[in-house]
Amino acid sequence: MSKKDIDWANLGFGYIPTDYRFVANYKNGSWDEGAIVTDPMITMSECAGVLQYAQTCFEGLKAYTTQDGRVVMFRPDLNAERMVTSCERLEMPVFEKQKFVDAVEATVKANIDYVPPFGSGATLYVRPYMFGISPVIGVKPAEEYQFRVFVTPVGPYFKGGVRPLTIRVSDFDRAAPHGTGHVKAGLNYAMSLHAIVDAHKQGFDENMYLDPGTRTKVEETGGANFLFVTKDNKVVTPKSSSILPSITRRSLMVVAKEYLGLEVEEREIAFEEIKDFAECGLCGTAAVISPVGKIVDHGNEIAFPSGMENMGPVTQKLYDTLTGIQMGRIEAPEGWLVEIK
Ligand code: PLP
Ligand code: COI
Repeated sequence: MSKKDIDWANLGFGYIPTDYRFVANYKNGSWDEGAIVTDPMITMSECAGVLQYAQTCFEGLKAYTTQDGRVVMFRPDLNAERMVTSCERLEMPVFEKQKFVDAVEATVKANIDYVPPFGSGATLYVRPYMFGISPVIGVKPAEEYQFRVFVTPVGPYFKGGVRPLTIRVSDFDRAAPHGTGHVKAGLNYAMSLHAIVDAHKQGFDENMYLDPGTRTKVEETGGANFLFVTKDNKVVTPKSSSILPSITRRSLMVVAKEYLGLEVEEREIAFEEIKDFAECGLCGTAAVISPVGKIVDHGNEIAFPSGMENMGPVTQKLYDTLTGIQMGRIEAPEGWLVEIK
């Protein structure tokens, strides 16, 4: 075993194929055992459910090398649970939770030489996903499915690493009321592509989506939840039935309360309130915590007091504590780290 020769410190958030991936097939009403394979290519019918009606969902988590040289995954049980919710909403067969965790673990283990070293700033991104593979032409669920896991070493999600972002309020919606915003359906991301390409063209890093029903409340971005810090250091995060229940956000609320002794609140947040917050950040597996310096609403700029140079002090503490837990520098709550042995 020897680490791959990769320039870990300069990785962006991109796809680098590794040596192994996991594949399981669902046929005649049940999943096969699944196996680790080497072939990264997939052959399927031109009429596969995923190609015609976007029947697919996915997950994202990371594996890290800790300070003392272990390789750990962060809360994979919660990804397994969320994938069950996604599958149920999309009429896909559930992949049992323990089997999900085992498959993820086996894939990381097979690719252990791609897990970036401690201190390199990179991590191993793990992408479990499922899709309808049998032919479907009338609008209905597929009969056969494939569940796969691949891994890829990644650096920061936003170009330029950790720096305050500029976000615009989107005129496009990401999720409908009572739609699929709360699950990790591929279609939610297809919906967001035009909005993100346009945002980048206009010089913004990301879109802030408002609630599609009333357009008065803060929802999330295309790939992360929001966290705000009030002027008296309370950590506040939007509550909505159409945002993805971020595992990072749920973990940060525990970190804020239990490790930093801060008051936390999950509640509806009116867009009107934003100007009164002291700090803002995006949180997610890929985003970790990315500070937001400015939100632009059709030319009207809301600049946070934390500015465009540094993370706000509370955001910084949350970032240091969460990454400290993930990298084994700070003791993790029971069950948060799963070691790959
Ligand atoms: N919101 C959206 C739309 C996402 O795609 C993600 C990424 O998974 C998140 C939030 C953050 O979720 P998590 O912290 O579980 O990665
Ligand atoms: C993740 O953070 O894992 C995601 O799935 C977000 C995606 C936009 C990369």
